[in-house]
Amino acid sequence: METIRISLGDRSYDICSGRGLLSKKDLFIQYVSKKNVAIITNETVGPLYLKKLRKSLSDATSIIEIVLKDGEEFKNQDSLDIIYEALLNNKYGRDSILIALGGGVVGDITGYAAATYMRGIDFIQVPTTLLSQVDSSVGGKTGINHRLGKNMIGAFYQPKRVIIDVDCLESLPDIELSAGLAEVIKYGLIRDPIFFEWLEQNVNNLLKKHPDSLIEAITRSCNNKAAVVTEDEFETEKGIRATLNLGHTFGHAIETALGYGKWLHGQAVAAGMIMASHMSMQLGFIEEQDFTRIKNILKAANLPINPPDLSQDQFLDLMASDKKNKNGKISLILLRSLGEAFQTEDYDMKVLEKTINTKIF
Ligand code: NAD
Ligand code: GLY
Repeated sequence: METIRISLGDRSYDICSGRGLLSKKDLFIQYVSKKNVAIITNETVGPLYLKKLRKSLSDATSIIEIVLKDGEEFKNQDSLDIIYEALLNNKYGRDSILIALGGGVVGDITGYAAATYMRGIDFIQVPTTLLSQVDSSVGGKTGINHRLGKNMIGAFYQPKRVIIDVDCLESLPDIELSAGLAEVIKYGLIRDPIFFEWLEQNVNNLLKKHPDSLIEAITRSCNNKAAVVTEDEFETEKGIRATLNLGHTFGHAIETALGYGKWLHGQAVAAGMIMASHMSMQLGFIEEQDFTRIKNILKAANLPINPPDLSQDQFLDLMASDKKNKNGKISLILLRSLGEAFQTEDYDMKVLEKTINTKIF
């Protein structure tokens, strides 16, 4: 088992990753012993892993299961209310604990429920998609979507532990694995060029779900995320955590325009990372050969390199509501080089418009 410590003072916690961790009672016991536990999952993941997880929680006082509908379109206030109601009906108090068993949708909703129920209770992340194992379960961003914008309602709220069982990926559909690879590739692009090279060489093993390659990719991704979150937990003006949003400003516009769930988050981020890279090339930061490498790795990971058919106005309008924006200007994460990202509002709008209207081959 690999353990990575997220050092955030009294909000510090471990990310434990490896094979078979769902069955490791020791990893859960200190948090669930003599506690009321609520497992939040969905209709797809519950039947696969609830039974196994419950066995590791036998020291809990009580366990309830809250099974949500599956899909990004259910990352909303209605699902949150289902959780609050179940907790209130079962008289769960402030000393109860939530466990998120599922992908990023379940993890984000559960984290937000934990942040807000009775002004804050403990929670553990048990992420079961590659995307949630390398990104969403780590770092404490929690929340739900609003009809008018992706992830617009939320809180920074850290879990007590993240338990990543790589074996859960066996049942993950290929398209979801590819979506997770988008966020893995992101770390290479924004701050780890050596990891990017490793990914170029290992993308096929990852697509074949080679366990050692998956563990390596997850560990290196979580190390990168841990470093960023430790430096800039609350995404401040320092603009360090914001770099984790490479491609997301474009990607969130795609997700919101199409309707939640039409494109997977990772697919939208992949197309968005190409757009951000294209802009970085037009502005003279990265070379054409870097752009080609980025395009090739995303293609190799079976990810889209072009956005769906949105108009320039649709893109600009939706990007104008991004949370990062400053003084009415769309803030973007761009690449200074392959392996270094920065946040900026200082660019020529014509360059952004050209990127939106460029078809990549
Ligand atoms: P998801 O949670 O919708 O999961 C994808 C699909 O895989 C779902 O149908 C799910 O039921 C299924 N699934 C999950 N685990 C499975 C398994 N082991 N076997 C078979 N099927 C399984 O999507 P996701 O890609 O995990 O997460 C995307 C969400 O994460 C988005 O809402 C995005 O905004 C959010 N996100 C949050 C952060 C953050 O920092 N909080 C970071 C990145 C993404
Ligand atoms: N996924 C972006 C962040 O955690 O900040």
